Amino acid sequence: MMQIIETVAEMRDKCAALAGPLGFVPTMGYLHRGHISLIDRARAECPSAVVSIFVNPSQFLPGEDYERYPRDMPRDLALCEAAGVSAVFAPTAAEMYPAGFSTSVEVTGLQDRWEGSIRPGHFRGVATVVARLFRIVQAERAYFGEKDYQQLQVVRRMTSDLCLDTEVIGSPTIREEDGLAMSSRNVYLEAGDRQRATALYRALLAAQRLVDEGESDGATIRAAMEAVVLGEGLRLDYAIAVDPDSLEPLERVDRTARALIAARLGPVRLIDNAPLTPPT
Ligand code: PAF
Repeated sequence: MMQIIETVAEMRDKCAALAGPLGFVPTMGYLHRGHISLIDRARAECPSAVVSIFVNPSQFLPGEDYERYPRDMPRDLALCEAAGVSAVFAPTAAEMYPAGFSTSVEVTGLQDRWEGSIRPGHFRGVATVVARLFRIVQAERAYFGEKDYQQLQVVRRMTSDLCLDTEVIGSPTIREEDGLAMSSRNVYLEAGDRQRATALYRALLAAQRLVDEGESDGATIRAAMEAVVLGEGLRLDYAIAVDPDSLEPLERVDRTARALIAARLGPVRLIDNAPLTPPT
């Protein structure tokens, strides 16, 4: 029987009592197939899986969508139960950030580029809440989607720097049939924009196609991605080939890299990424 837990103390006790190794999937709820794939993987690789559902206020900037971020706790709980989750941690904001809470975790460098330059303070909020969640749950493994690739690198660095005993596992992005990366925020897309939203995925495919053909010039690969996104009338935030660990831009894609892309479609921000692998 799945347990729903709201307090830090109870969650710590529950996690300590569950059969380990423990697999942990941190989420902000409004679960989709991407989240379920993480839960399924945690269940397949660990005797017990736990999920957190917490829309973390500290990772939203003023004016962002914290208030209207999609929420559906009854549906999320039913999905977790059906997926075989042992416990869901669904704390209030006051439980996660009690009066006097004054610590924040900064992953300098990694947190400042790409998404961090457009959403300053976002990764501080992510790193802080994930550090706290890791200490509460103390899972052996935690599962994150590669969809938020920069987040995954920030969490990896933070976990390693702070010697947290949780192995961070990245899992491939789950996509709709037409390639759109699954995201809770896709509900914001208006019907008329839905097809244009696939431009990010098509740009990533165009980048890989160039690399397959032997192109290694970072600027050429970047221009090809930009052309696809701008051609669909989206507003581009960035499209870039980077080192997969440091996220530094690459002048030459002569080893496995990561293509990162972010653009706006009306009021909706979309991000995506994919590995770029040169032919051997
Ligand atoms: O990816 C998310 O859903 C959130 O950023 C996370 C990792 C649960 C932290 O709030």
